[in-house]
Amino acid sequence: MNYHNVLFRWAAVLAGTLFTLAVPAGAAESSTHMPAWLESAVFYQIYPQSFYDSNGDGIGDLRGIREKLPYLHELGITAIWLNPCFESPFQDAGYDISDFYKVAPRYGSNEDLRALFAEARRLGIRVMLDLVAGHTSDQHPWFKESQRSQRNRYTDWYIWTDSVWTWFVPGQQVVAGGAERDGNYIANFFHFQPALNYGYARPDPQLHWEQPTNAPGPLAVRAELKKIMRFWFDLGASGFRVDMAGALVKNDPDGRANAALWQEVRQWMDRDYPDCALVSEWSQPQIAIPGAFHMDFLLPFAKPGYRALFRADGKERPIFDTSGETSIRVFLDEFEPLLKATRGKGFMAIPSGNHDTVPRLGNGRDARGVTVAMAFLLTMPAVPFIYYGDEIGMQSLDGLPSKEGGYNRTGCRTPMQWDGATNAGFSTAPADKLYLPIDPAAGRPTVAAELADPASSLNAVRALIALRQAHPALSAGGEFEAVIAPEGGWPFVYRRAKDGENIFIALNPSAKPCETALPRNFEPGGIQPLAGDASAFRQEAAGWRVVLPPESFAVVKVK
Ligand code: NOJ
Ligand code: CA
Repeated sequence: MNYHNVLFRWAAVLAGTLFTLAVPAGAAESSTHMPAWLESAVFYQIYPQSFYDSNGDGIGDLRGIREKLPYLHELGITAIWLNPCFESPFQDAGYDISDFYKVAPRYGSNEDLRALFAEARRLGIRVMLDLVAGHTSDQHPWFKESQRSQRNRYTDWYIWTDSVWTWFVPGQQVVAGGAERDGNYIANFFHFQPALNYGYARPDPQLHWEQPTNAPGPLAVRAELKKIMRFWFDLGASGFRVDMAGALVKNDPDGRANAALWQEVRQWMDRDYPDCALVSEWSQPQIAIPGAFHMDFLLPFAKPGYRALFRADGKERPIFDTSGETSIRVFLDEFEPLLKATRGKGFMAIPSGNHDTVPRLGNGRDARGVTVAMAFLLTMPAVPFIYYGDEIGMQSLDGLPSKEGGYNRTGCRTPMQWDGATNAGFSTAPADKLYLPIDPAAGRPTVAAELADPASSLNAVRALIALRQAHPALSAGGEFEAVIAPEGGWPFVYRRAKDGENIFIALNPSAKPCETALPRNFEPGGIQPLAGDASAFRQEAAGWRVVLPPESFAVVKVK
């Protein structure tokens, strides 16, 4: 079973919301503030272990990220999401935190993080941290206290059954034995990640330990969550990506109790930190966004649309594929209703990949293939998240031994490839001391080589980011209309608009040329090519057509 199946199962069990499409009737919704910078933001996700090692110990660190900020700035990146960088036994790459208020020494100090925030901000880049809200490490002092038999402050901070002989609780992962306390705890993900107690939306009266969300334990945990957030906001963080955001309150089939929790956080943020933002790992934008999150990720474990986009799903080909036989409809059928449900309330976030997703976008795609996929990512009405290395078409590696609970995810977490130096410029440590091996392929892509190559995906991504930022029509909140989106084949043609500006985009990921007639009402006063194939939009005797060569795209401004 791969990671997505596991996460799918857990998310389904814990949140119980994966199959709910409609916005819950009468969902509480308050008017919320949107930080203006999100509209045109382009995010870059950094897995700190693997980005840049500044002190030669073989593992990436915060100073390393700071040293590489000019690279991100030149690429046009305006915000970073940093995977967890807090003290941890690293059994799940840092998603098992043992001190929420302290940077892990292997990455540096809190002062290094403050310096990173400040230097990034000087370059116009905001940094969001990872909020692992749902669980701690079993090494966390709170959990150690909670394991004791005497009642104490932390007794109800985790979910404990009332006897060690209660081994089975339907739909929940019970970890039995080993504690002084006579009871078993509920784990969120791996067994060493005990779930913090946010209560149950529908506590079962037979199961006494299922507390309501307003019981003292859950209220204390909520208060601590805000304290953690405030601590990092005050140090300069611009927000958080929230881990398993829809699975904090248990037995919440329609997601309303989890949404309510985040709506409360949002009201507090709107008041005290109005420039900061939250993005959820939920993949239920119609539930996560209204009144709660500024953004919600589309992710592979939820509905089929995103899952199909860039990577093969079982026997199916990905939508962005050279066969010419795929269709964008699989994605749009999911995306368009979600766009309608979230318009004006927040944004969907589309990632090129992340630290949980194999293969990488670059696997099985050449520079042209990566470029067409990125042209899509950077022109859709959503906030784009580029996973480190995807801009150069880095490949995930198969068959690596699991590192820090990565299992099959390990392959997409290898070091960033900077240049032709030892260890691809990632670190000066001996190769056997590196966090993970570097892609051994002779022709592995590097930043240095791609900067020098006008046809590289890196240069294309840079130009596309600049384009997105120069044209409000391309921003997350600009209008969107699918103009040509056939059930099978290509091109996919869509219109983006804002403030009287109209931009048309045409994409052809296929290895075959493609063409289509545009609707009769397409009667432009003029066409100005902005990016990609300059002659794709043509006027012929019978009307306007789009003609695209293999693996190409076009962006034009229509007057
Ligand atoms: C989702 C994170 O992205 C993943 O890496 C982690 O293992 C789980 N949540 C558990 O925190
Ligand atoms: Ca280091």
